[in-house]
This record gives sequence, structure tokens and C-alpha cells, in this order.
Amino acid sequence: MLEYIPKYGQRLADEVRRWGEWIKREAEEELSEFYPKDPDGATPIAYLWARTIQCEGPGCGAEVPLMRSLWLAKKGDGSVALRLLPNQRSRSVAFEIIRFAKPKDVGPGTIRRGAVTCPCCSYSTPVTSVRVQLESRKGGTADALLIAVRFDDPKSGQRSWRLPNKTDLKAAAAAAEELHGRIRQNKQRLSLVPDELLPPEGTLGFRIQRYGMLRWGDLFSARQALALTTLGRLVREARIACQPDLALAVRTNLALAVDRLADFNASLCVLNSVGGRGVVHVFGRQALPIVWDFMETNPFNTEAANWQTCFDVVDEVIAFEKHYTNSGHVEKADATNHPLPDDSAIAFITDPPYYDAVPYADLSDFFYVWLRRNLPTEYPDLLANPTTAKEDECIVDVVRGKDRQCFERKMGKAMAEGRRVLQPGGIAVVVFAHKSTAGWEAQLQAMIDAGWIMTGSWPIDTERPGRLRAQDSAALASSVHIVCRPRWIPDGSDRTDEVGDWRDVLAELPRRIHEWMPRLSAEGIVGADAIFSCLGPALEIFSRYSRVEKASGEQVTLREYLEQVWAAVAKEALNMIFEGADATGFEEDARLTAMWLWTLSTGNNGNGKRKLSEDDEEIDEEEDSGKPKKITGGYVLEYDAARKIAQGLGAHLEKLSTVVEVKGDTAHLLPVSERTRFLFGKDETQSPSSKRKKKEPQLKLGFMKEIEEIEIKDGWGTKSAPRAGSTVLDRLHQSMILFAAGRSEALKRFLVEEGAGNDQRFWRLAQALSALYPKSSDEKRWVDGVLARKKGLGF
Ligand SMILES: C[S@@+](CC[C@H](N)C(=O)[O-])C[C@H]1O[C@@H](n2cnc3c(N)ncnc32)[C@H](O)[C@@H]1O
Ligand SMILES: [Zn+2]
Repeated sequence: MLEYIPKYGQRLADEVRRWGEWIKREAEEELSEFYPKDPDGATPIAYLWARTIQCEGPGCGAEVPLMRSLWLAKKGDGSVALRLLPNQRSRSVAFEIIRFAKPKDVGPGTIRRGAVTCPCCSYSTPVTSVRVQLESRKGGTADALLIAVRFDDPKSGQRSWRLPNKTDLKAAAAAAEELHGRIRQNKQRLSLVPDELLPPEGTLGFRIQRYGMLRWGDLFSARQALALTTLGRLVREARIACQPDLALAVRTNLALAVDRLADFNASLCVLNSVGGRGVVHVFGRQALPIVWDFMETNPFNTEAANWQTCFDVVDEVIAFEKHYTNSGHVEKADATNHPLPDDSAIAFITDPPYYDAVPYADLSDFFYVWLRRNLPTEYPDLLANPTTAKEDECIVDVVRGKDRQCFERKMGKAMAEGRRVLQPGGIAVVVFAHKSTAGWEAQLQAMIDAGWIMTGSWPIDTERPGRLRAQDSAALASSVHIVCRPRWIPDGSDRTDEVGDWRDVLAELPRRIHEWMPRLSAEGIVGADAIFSCLGPALEIFSRYSRVEKASGEQVTLREYLEQVWAAVAKEALNMIFEGADATGFEEDARLTAMWLWTLSTGNNGNGKRKLSEDDEEIDEEEDSGKPKKITGGYVLEYDAARKIAQGLGAHLEKLSTVVEVKGDTAHLLPVSERTRFLFGKDETQSPSSKRKKKEPQLKLGFMKEIEEIEIKDGWGTKSAPRAGSTVLDRLHQSMILFAAGRSEALKRFLVEEGAGNDQRFWRLAQALSALYPKSSDEKRWVDGVLARKKGLGF
């Protein structure tokens, strides 16, 4: 992008296309027998495979395919699913295709959270045994079971699913044989299929080693490896006949295209059944979790996830970028040891690693090991090592002994390096995103220590929409761009000795936030994005001094200041939520609830589709022993963030156990439906969360039953109304539940006779929450249902 496109522009695009097509013809011919067409001319687009285990049920031993779901395509009339046909006698499982499938026709998959339920004997083989079994088979990719084939029928123009036939199985077996022959005959310096080791078990984001995938080649089935190695060989063999430096650029792009295909053609690609869209690429998120049933694409299919799209994209990028004619210069260097001389740059723009969010170098190896094979002589320096360098990477990674202090030290050095190469009057932009306050504190500390003053901050959408899954809840839809200046004035006079007065700093903070928030809000920036986007202006006040002191002479730490910042932001946000109405009129629970929902909201910026709590539909995460179990449902925030927000509102999380549940390092705002028993029960001291622990977690809409019980017990079904709760929020939630349960008469009595509706705060809170609950949530419907009664009841 920086060197080749400005230099070669359209010529590069044309050559890449030309040679991409040449490779396609050659490879398609060479590999056609391994992707056979059907006798009627239909072509397989992709194949669905499942890893298998042997059921450990007493006397069973059935071979069980691991299927996280039986849906193949969920799109109305075109819905297709599988039905399991267990055969008790042969102890095996066959399949049947259900066309026009309705949810009631489709059973659950065989695996959930890593434990496998046998369709033959119903025994549940635990995740630990699943691991042992797959471990001995390098993850079980090589002997996975072919479950279904997605095909394209050119005659009818139809794309659909069928069961596999003998030809399919033979072709896959032949591909494996072909690959093994080629492995034996390989004369290259490096193994044909990458045999470099994955990072050690426990490495951030990696969840596949414990299933026996230890080398990068283990991530691919034989046919996938055959396709990738064939394409790679053709990239090396292409006699690209233009001037040598352009030819190098072309070959580099083609090698990158093979990498791109690897991302779509590995045994960690899941099926995306929603809308029947097929193959999901591996790096839908920046991690490598295990995938039980996987999609193998036919690289020559004409739909998607094929070789053609992998080199087409080069053309698209060039078309987009070709007006840049200023050629850049790219060099690999450690950010703590920059090749530029002092005071030489007018701008320093950096997108540093995000604390502990992504193991960049380890993940890069997925691509690097292929590049190294496909560009064997082109980049002797860049591709010298078997895998990418990890030592000097600036991230938090406990497995490698890199803790927060390490990160801060290293990041501090890198930021100081940026300061060194920048001219005194220059400007810097540091991009950062993190969902934890600790991540932010570490990054900002490093920047302040290095002598930067933050002067502004703005969130910019940097992620491709439609990611497989947003990161955890309250992940950012965007990265915050923090604008900085060296801590001295452009006229050259030094400011490094200035000491700030804590009282002045504290007095200025709320004013600054008050100015900044409406600007963000006017741009549709709300929630977590807005909170973090206030850091720039807030930190300008603090970072303009080399140190800030209290009257006692004690130095104020960044951490202490940030506590004040979160508080000021929370207060300001709350005022915006209640549109200037005095937010202090609401009790703690209402303030916290409103602020919580606001924090999780995305407004109309960003991809807007970010889910609040992830339901893991796409990937069945195995049981994770180390971490607290994921809380399902409700609205989840990092505990520390929740605590800071609460503090800013003068609320206390510990005292609010009737609305918030804390588990490990996450805090979860209880869904209204889960508060039923508390809200209508007699014993108000018993919080819903303490009850939840004793019982099975309540099912969604379990509250309908509860309402019935309570209604009968308390006898307000026909004449009276439930007793009003003690806070405005409780009363509003009660009303919402009555609405949801269809108790319209009781709701009326509750609002009018019990008097819940006489309190203006009730309606103001309802209004605010209506704007804050996610659009498609039950809560939103219910609160709107309550609001709709307002006029009619004369309020
Ligand atoms: C947030 S990513 C940058 C992503 C990039 N902007 C993009 O869009 O692809 C952070 C990068 O910093 C790199 N990095 C980590 N430690 C480094 C160091 N000590 N010196 C230079 N780069 C480093 C990581 O390898 C990673 O590629
Ligand atoms: Zn069994």
C-alpha cells in the first residue's frame, strides 16, 4: 500500500490479475480431480466436515460427529437443516437433509461447551475426554467426517445442500494420497506443509493446542493443504516477465493472496448458516478457538471464499488507493529503537498494540509460515526466522512473562522514541482501543511519562463491519484516536518543569467534559466510545504539567486522576440522558441502570449492530476452567468499569445487588424479567441474585409463571394491584412486567390506585430507559408499552 501502489498503480493491478488468472487456470486443471463435479453438472461449492470422537458411554463406543448446530441455512423458505439418524445396532450416526426446515424440526447439535452428547446412547462425554481423544489425532482434522456438501447447480441456478456421495469421499481420500506423495518428494528447503510449532499452550487467544494441533500445518485438512501448496508453488513458478522490481511486487501480492485463501481454507472456518452464506474466515476475531464442525471451500467455486476473490481484492484496493502517488518507505524496526534521527518528523502516527487484547505476533505466524514458503528468496531479511519475532513485542502476555509493568515500560520507551523523532512543533496521533480501564491506564501512563500532552480524542471506525463476533461485551466499535503534542510550546520554550495544582485541575475537569460531550453526542457518539473519547480533553488538563501536586506536596497519580475523570464523565452523561432534568432526583438504582445502558449503547455511529451480550452462536467455546463462567443474558460490563461508573454517580455496587450481579471480573445488570420475584415477592431483603444461585438459572419468560404464582398468592388478580416497590426504578420495572404478562387491568390499578404513575420521575425514567434499552430488546417493548398507557390514564 505504501510503496508499491504509489509506484506502480494500475500496472500492478493489471499484472496481478493476469498472473492470478494464469495460476487459476493451471491450478484448476491440476486439482480438478479432487473437486469432482456431480454427474448432472452441479459443482460443489463447499464441504461441511465434523471432527469425531468415540462415545465413552458404557458399552457404547459410537463414532459421534461433533456438530455445534444442525442448521445448514437459515433463510426463510430456503432453510435447510440436518437430522441425526442414530443407528443403535451399528453404533454410528447417519444424516438426513431437512428442506424448508422450521425451528421445531431441528434438534440441537451434539456438542455444547465442549461436552458431547451421544445420539445413540445419550451419554455425555465430558470435555476433558474430548480433549484427550482429539489430542491423540492432532485435532482430528485428518479423519473428520464429511457431513454435507453445498453445491451450485448451473442449470437451475440453484445453490443448495446435499448429503455426500462416494465420489466426494473418494476425491478427498485421493487428495490426501496426492499430498502425502508430494510431501515425500518435496525437495524444498522447508517442509511442504508448514511444520513450525504453534506458541505454547495457554498463549493468549489460542485454544487449539490442547486438542493436539501443535504445528501450523495441523490447521489444514489434506485437501486444503494440497490446494494451498499447489497455489504457492505456482506463485513461485510464474514467469512474470515485466521489469524485475514490478515483478517482485506482483509476486508478493500473489503470495499474499495465497495467505488470504489460507484464512478461508482452514479447518477452523465455521459455517455461517445465517442467510446461507457459507464459509466464515478464520480471523473473524483475533484469536484461534477450536472449531468442531468446519467448512472446507472449493477454491475454484464461483460463489465466494475462492482463489479468484483473493487476488481480485488487490485490484479493488488499488482502484481505491491509486491517487496516492507519494511513495512511502517501509522498514521493519522495533518501536523502541526507531531508525529516524532526532526532530526529523512532522507527524508521528501510531497504532500500538492494545495491551492484552491481541497476540499479534503469534497470530501472524498463521500467515507468515506460508509467505516464507511462497517467497523463498525475495525477502531474505524479513522472512529469515522460522516464525515471527516475539521477544520484543509490546503486549501483556502472562505465558511469556510479560506483565503490566513490562508493557508500561516498553510502551513508555516507544512513546519516548516517537517524541525523539518528532519536531518540537509536530503533532502525534496514537490510536487505542481497550475494553478495560487497566488497559487504558497503562497506555496513558506510558504516554504521559514520555512527555506527551493529549489535546483531543475522537473515535473512528476502524474495524470491518460484520465481524464474526464483536470482542467481549462493551467492546469498542471504533478505535479512539488521541491527538498529542510534545510537552513544550511550539515556540520552543520548555515546559517540562511546570507543576500543576490539584485544585485547579479538578475545577477545570467538569467544565471540559461539559464542553466535549455534546460535541460527541452531536456526532452520534455515545456509550463506551464517548467515555473513552473524553480522555483526550480530560488528560490535556493533567498532562500539560510534568507533575500535579496536592496542597500537601504529594504527587497525584494518573490512576487517581482517571478516577475523577470517569466520575465526571458519568455525571455529565447522566445529565444528558435525563436531558437536563435533575438526575439527583433519582435513586441510585435508576441512575446506575440508565448510565449502564448508556455505556453499552452504540448510538447511530459505528456498525450499530454490536451485541450487548454475546450468545456465541457461531463458535461453541469449550468449557474454560480458568475463567469465571460467562454470565448469559443481561447487560454485561467489566467489573472495574462498572465500579467506576457507579462511583461517579455516587452509587455503590455492593449495595445494589437487587439490580446488579457481580461474577469474577464481570458485572451484569439483571434483566427485568429476572427481577420478578424480588419486585413482587414479600421478602424485599432477598435479592434476585442470591436466589439465582440456589436455583437453576431462570429461563427467559420464566417470570410469566412466577407472576401467576404471586398473583394467586397475593390475590391481586382481579381487584387490587401489587404493592409498589420502594424506588422509582422498581415501580417502573413492576409496571413493565405487568405489561409483559398481559395484566393490563392490574397495570392500570398499579399506576392509578397504587399511585405509581403520580410520580413525574416515573415517566421521566420510563422515557429515558425507552431511549436506552436496545431496540430489539424485550425491555424496550415493555417500557414503551407502559409509556403508551400514560395519556389514556390521564397522567
Ligand atoms: C494495533 S496493531 C496495528 C494494526 C495496524 N494498524 C493494522 O491496521 O493492521 C499493533 C501492531 O504493533 C506491533 N508491535 C508490537 N510490538 C512492537 C514493537 N516493539 N515494535 C514495533 N511494533 C510492534 C504488533 O505486531 C502489531 O502489528
Ligand atoms: Zn454413546
